[in-house]
Amino acid sequence: MRAFFAIIGHPVAHSLSPCFQQAAFDACEIDAAYIPLDLDPARAEDTLFFLKDLAISGFNVTLPFKELAYRKVDHVYGIASKIRSVNTVVAREGLWEGYNTDVPGFKKAYSRFLEKTGYGSGNFIVLGAGGSARAVLEALSSMDVPQIKVVNRSSDRVRVLLEELSRERQISMNSLEDLKSSLDGKDWHVINTLSRNAFPVRGEFPPLEPLDETKVASVFDLSYEREGDTECVSWARRKGIPSSDGLSMLLFQGALSFEIWTGKSAPVRKMAEAMAKALPERKDLPGQFSD
Ligand SMILES: NC(=O)c1ccc[n+]([C@@H]2O[C@H](COP(=O)([O-])OP(=O)(O)OC[C@H]3O[C@@H](n4cnc5c(N)ncnc54)[C@H](OP(=O)(O)O)[C@@H]3O)[C@@H](O)[C@H]2O)c1
Repeated sequence: MRAFFAIIGHPVAHSLSPCFQQAAFDACEIDAAYIPLDLDPARAEDTLFFLKDLAISGFNVTLPFKELAYRKVDHVYGIASKIRSVNTVVAREGLWEGYNTDVPGFKKAYSRFLEKTGYGSGNFIVLGAGGSARAVLEALSSMDVPQIKVVNRSSDRVRVLLEELSRERQISMNSLEDLKSSLDGKDWHVINTLSRNAFPVRGEFPPLEPLDETKVASVFDLSYEREGDTECVSWARRKGIPSSDGLSMLLFQGALSFEIWTGKSAPVRKMAEAMAKALPERKDLPGQFSD
């Protein structure tokens, strides 16, 4: 029987995962279909278990369901249990196993980005406190980072996150106004994990606008657009600051999900080609992903 995989989220229509995951299954001659499933957040718990009845083989989880997936899987493995966020589920003998590939996917994409920009040191500003911010903070914890400032709309969410993750690290909660006055020195690396609807007015970028751009060394945005730049990347370009969107992270975390589902090496080049085909305007792909 044809295996069935999916990405669940809300919204999920813009996701590129279906195109490159399907390309990976096809390249490895695995008889599988990978589809996007937009779940109503109000009924997501029930719908999730309906997927179990449908004998789904595995799925990716995107916003806003990573914390729900963490609570609902039967077993949680590796870094997912530490950051309480699951983005990859595999069904084995009727039980769901939860993993997190955002952490290693981000690490790989971000270290390549920093290498290319030539910035090996500095401090970090993380915008957001959701599931992907947890992944980013965990990834940064393995780097020798002097200071991390987290900024989010809801301060309660940051407080919980700091309680769970900060331990001995120099992570602090900041308002956007604080950032204006409290950035000492240069070489601040900004990592945006806010969802796309945090930027309601295209062409403006409220979360970065108050910053003194001369102190910002780089901008890495986990989000991506199918056409054009994200708001963060566009802000950085205007200011002449090195930047990247989240396509490389998307590819690397997706390749790791594929390996968890199939036990095979992911055909990363084929996946990158499929992504590039879906984004004809992006001439920098797939060269961006090659070793
Ligand atoms: N490239 C990749 O591979 C990759 C991987 C993971 C995630 N992502 C992207 O990262 C983004 C966040 O994902 P997530 O899983 O972390 O989502 P999440 O858990 O739902 O967190 C969303 C974050 O955005 C903030 N936010 C949402 N709406 C806002 C608004 N109207 N105004 C201000 N802040 C707002 C939330 O703040 P509050 O806490 O105040 O609600 C929270 O900090 C998404 O765009 C996702 O596609 C990309």
